[in-house]
Amino acid sequence: MGTDDPEVIEAAIDLGYRHLDTARIYENEAVVGAAVAASDVPREELLVATKLWVTDLAADDVGRSARESLDRLGLEYVDLLYVHRPRGAYDPAGTLPALDALVDEGLVREVGLSNFSAEDLETARDHLETPVAAHQVEHHPLFRRAELVEDAREHGYPLVAYSPLASGKAFDLPAVREAAEAHGVSPAAVCLAWVLAREGVVAVPKASSEPHLRANLEAADLRLSDAEIARIDAIEREEELFPE
Ligand SMILES: NC(=O)c1ccc[n+]([C@@H]2O[C@H](COP(=O)([O-])OP(=O)(O)OC[C@H]3O[C@@H](n4cnc5c(N)ncnc54)[C@H](OP(=O)(O)O)[C@@H]3O)[C@@H](O)[C@H]2O)c1
Repeated sequence: MGTDDPEVIEAAIDLGYRHLDTARIYENEAVVGAAVAASDVPREELLVATKLWVTDLAADDVGRSARESLDRLGLEYVDLLYVHRPRGAYDPAGTLPALDALVDEGLVREVGLSNFSAEDLETARDHLETPVAAHQVEHHPLFRRAELVEDAREHGYPLVAYSPLASGKAFDLPAVREAAEAHGVSPAAVCLAWVLAREGVVAVPKASSEPHLRANLEAADLRLSDAEIARIDAIEREEELFPE
């Protein structure tokens, strides 16, 4: 979701959003936790995710940092705890067993990884006892990560696409604009439909207003033709918005 306006978060839950993506480094855990507390939607119907930053990934720091996140969220457990990036204090042999321990304690339902390469994912699987529950990566028409989509499909976990709208940078691409015109929808809807067309891929678009929240939910019903998808797949320009 990526907004820190409590009214927008509450509106999102009211509209039917159930996947709330937070991170310590975004400083949005408290505001999302407050919206969850204010909502009538039962906790078990929500998927609340947070992420451990690269400074908190040493085996001895993982438990403390996760508890601090839970305190800020005001929750007894998170559905998904991600390694935000495999950098800094990340050490697969130490970090990942510490995450498994949090699952055993019931503080974390499942473990996710974010910004991993295919090689990093392979190493992580060797050290994690619980199956990888999700891989969150930048994925949009200008940065497509075919090898990571393939890894997710092969190993049976969802790829969670962040920046699925390329922060708006894909809206003027002819392949996106012309598909939008053909379907009578916005370029944002086309970007989301292209992301969601891949089996096993879900998206966490950022939206700061109710009209955008509504539009992005509705985009889930848009089906692009194989030719429209192939044209976006063939875009030659590549732009990574969040490099290391
Ligand atoms: N795991 C990681 O390392 C990582 C890194 C970066 C980001 N993320 C996650 O990815 C999420 C998205 O990142 P992003 O900001 O690059 O976002 P994005 O979803 O690609 O684009 C967001 C932009 O598109 C606009 N927008 C949203 N819905 C729209 C619609 N229906 N029509 C037209 N414009 C629309 C938004 O405007 P308004 O805000 O005005 O609605 C905003 O300017 C973040 O919320 C964050 O949770 C994760």
